Amino acid sequence: MKNMFLEAIVLTNSVSMTIEFGKFLGSKLVAGYSVFLNGELGAGKTTFAKGLCTGLGVDKNFHVRSPTFSLINEYRGKLPVRHVDLFRIENEEELQNIGFFDQNFKGVLVIEWANKFNLEHTNDTISIFLDDVDLNSREIKLTARSNLIKTLVELSPLDLKVVNN
Ligand SMILES: Nc1ncnc2c1ncn2[C@@H]1O[C@H](COP(=O)(O)OP(=O)(O)O)[C@@H](O)[C@H]1O
Ligand SMILES: [Mg+2]
Repeated sequence: MKNMFLEAIVLTNSVSMTIEFGKFLGSKLVAGYSVFLNGELGAGKTTFAKGLCTGLGVDKNFHVRSPTFSLINEYRGKLPVRHVDLFRIENEEELQNIGFFDQNFKGVLVIEWANKFNLEHTNDTISIFLDDVDLNSREIKLTARSNLIKTLVELSPLDLKVVNN
């Protein structure tokens, strides 16, 4: 059971609903978690990350934006948050160079385009895939080790469906 992955799916129909769900997830995270965000350009990765950061206690007025060019943004909430975008990273060496594998970092990592590299999926990884169903709707699929998904499903203000249970 311990190594089982569970999936949950939520459908949002507005930007604010995606942010609200990100905020909910962010409020449940502790130091050491990594959130992988995947999906096409415009799917809502950065939007979701904004919600996550708010849930992690980053000031709402702080402008969380895509680190497409800066590569790593660091915010301070109740925990330090590193927001990374791998879109422009070409290889593992570049990943090393931007300090991605910093073992001393004690906080939450939020990684857009995580699937570009074969990153380790640990017990503390939540993998999220966003899909633009239509103009204002997004399907958000979460995959993680069972316990965290269970907590999310039990507590979420949104209607989360567990699949592959
Ligand atoms: N339900 C929704 N959730 C998130 N974004 C949405 C939603 N509906 C429309 N959008 C729009 O989709 C775009 C998502 O952009 P962004 O978050 O930057 O995507 P990505 O980081 O995946 O490229 C924004 O223009 C946003 O306004
Ligand atoms: Mg983005």
